[in-house]
Amino acid sequence: MHKQGRRLFIGSSTDRHCFNIGFIDSGIGGLSILAEVSRDYPTQNYTYLADQEFFPYGDKPADELLMRLRSLVPQFVQGHSIDLLVIACNTASTGALAVMRELIKIPIIGVVPAIKPAAMESKQKRVGILATPATTESSYTRTLIKEHAKDCEVHLIGSSKMVQLAEAKALGGYIDRQLVSEILEPFHKFQVDTVVLACTHFPFLRKELAESLPTNVKLIDSAKGISRQVGRILSQLTHKNQVTTCKTKLLSTDDNVSSQKLQLALQSFLSQ
Ligand code: DGL
Repeated sequence: MHKQGRRLFIGSSTDRHCFNIGFIDSGIGGLSILAEVSRDYPTQNYTYLADQEFFPYGDKPADELLMRLRSLVPQFVQGHSIDLLVIACNTASTGALAVMRELIKIPIIGVVPAIKPAAMESKQKRVGILATPATTESSYTRTLIKEHAKDCEVHLIGSSKMVQLAEAKALGGYIDRQLVSEILEPFHKFQVDTVVLACTHFPFLRKELAESLPTNVKLIDSAKGISRQVGRILSQLTHKNQVTTCKTKLLSTDDNVSSQKLQLALQSFLSQ
């Protein structure tokens, strides 16, 4: 059994029909997706699991990550009666979405790199993809590039260091701006005008990323697209007969991560 961590209630509204929407990520990153979805659908029930015991996902061998997800995700879905699951992690989605959909018989939305909108947005047809090493190497990402960015020059940066910087910042730590600039150096060299934030942790560094890149560079993430997908699926789900209390629960597999810190990370997004 994986640890489910302590629970935290961020807000609640009583006497409504709610679906249980589950989110999973290696850490705080998926909160950037939860923030968008819960802003759009404030009367649903949200359960978020940060798998910080296994953080970071992006530098783990693919088979180890798959084994972890095969065991953790069904347990999370069953244990919290999840109706709709968002795998709020590009690394887990590009590596394991198909397997998760075979394993778990509820609707599952995967967060994958927003390459199509970025290719359409790029004026110079020079696109940067900022992701984890696993996402940059995945065949899923390569296929997205082939299908949607044929007319673009695409430059990939895979950095677990950047993920760690985002996790540390969101949990109240210091952010090394010099290191952010060094990691982004290839995007300067290749003069990209659009960057895909292909890791859900990176919207937490939006300010630092924007300050380190030329002002003309657009940053594209997946949150709005995922929220629209959630809306489409919610409209197709049949309401359960029971009336429930809607609330948001934040859980971690790592007992050392304070619930209040997860709450603060979410609040920083909700107030953006
Ligand atoms: N937030 C995740 C992603 O979108 C995973 C980062 C990590 O744990 O390496 O890829």
